[in-house]
Amino acid sequence: MKISKAIIPVAGLGTRMLPATKAIPKELLPVVDKPVIQYVVEEAALSGIEQIIFVTRSGKDAIENHFDGNYELEHILETKGKKRILGSIKNMIPKNIKISSIRQEKALGLGDAILNAKHLLNQEPFAIFLPDELLISKNKDSSFFKMMNHWDNTNQGQIMVQKINKKFTKSYGIVDLNNKKIKINETQEIKKLVEKPNPVDSPSNYRVVGRYILPYEIMEILERTNFGKDNEIQLTDALDNLLKNTKLSAFLTDDDIFDCGEIKGFIGANVAVASKDKDLKKYMENIIN
Ligand code: G1P
Repeated sequence: MKISKAIIPVAGLGTRMLPATKAIPKELLPVVDKPVIQYVVEEAALSGIEQIIFVTRSGKDAIENHFDGNYELEHILETKGKKRILGSIKNMIPKNIKISSIRQEKALGLGDAILNAKHLLNQEPFAIFLPDELLISKNKDSSFFKMMNHWDNTNQGQIMVQKINKKFTKSYGIVDLNNKKIKINETQEIKKLVEKPNPVDSPSNYRVVGRYILPYEIMEILERTNFGKDNEIQLTDALDNLLKNTKLSAFLTDDDIFDCGEIKGFIGANVAVASKDKDLKKYMENIIN
C-alpha cells in the first residue's frame, strides 16, 4: 500500500535553543534561507507524501502561517515586480500537498504526539518525520525515498538508523539486530528496540533516526503504551511491542545528519547547506581564516 500521509510532530518547547526559541518555534529557525521545517516538508514531498499532519500546540501557529498564503506580501511583491522572491514564497510546496494540523494538549512524549493523529489516518500505514533532524544526502535521492522503496517492495515497516559511537547511545532509540550488520541503503530485521540505553546495556550502535514508515497497528499499541523512559509515552516502547506480531526493518543511511534542535547541529546544518553554494562557501572561508 502506498504511503501518502506523514505525521510531523512540532509541539516541542525548543528548550535546548533558548533564548532564540522564546517567541519563535524552533522549527522556523533558518538554515541559510529556509526554515528547518521547510527542508523536512520538501523531503517528504519529494518522496511521494501528499498529506502532512503537524502535531502542534498553542503558541506555534507561525509554523502553519509559514505554509499558508500571505496575500498582502504577495501583492506587494507582485506590484514591485519582485518575481524571484515572490516565487520563493508562493510555490514553496507542490500544489498537490495538503497540510493539516492538530494539537497535542499535554507534553506527554513522542508516542502521545503521534497517537493524536490516529483519527486522520484512515487506518492506513504512514510516515513520521521528526523535524529536528536535517538529513543531507550524498546523492540525488534522499534516504527516505530509498527507504520508501524498501517499503514498496516488502510492505514491512521501516525505521531509519545511523551508525554511531557507542558512547552516544543514551541520547537515542537503539535497535537490536541480533548482532547482524547492515550495508548502507539496505535493511536488516529488527529483533528489539530500546529507548536511550546506557552504552554498556546497548544492544548495538545503530541509533534510530527520526524517519519511520509504520503500519497503522502501531496506533492501537500506542493507546495501551504506559509511560516509559523520562516518564513519557515512548514511540520506541510501542515499536518494541509491535515486534511481537509484526516484522520491522532497520534501514541504514549514510547521510550527514544535523540535529537542529541544539546549537552545534544547527550551526553544522547552516555550514553544510551554505557550503553547497560557491559564493557563500568562499565568504565563510574568508571569515574563518
Ligand atoms: C526521539 C526518539 C528516539 C530517536 C530520536 C531521533 O528522541 O524517542 O528513539 O532516536 O527521537 O531524533 P528525542 O530526540 O525526542 O529525545
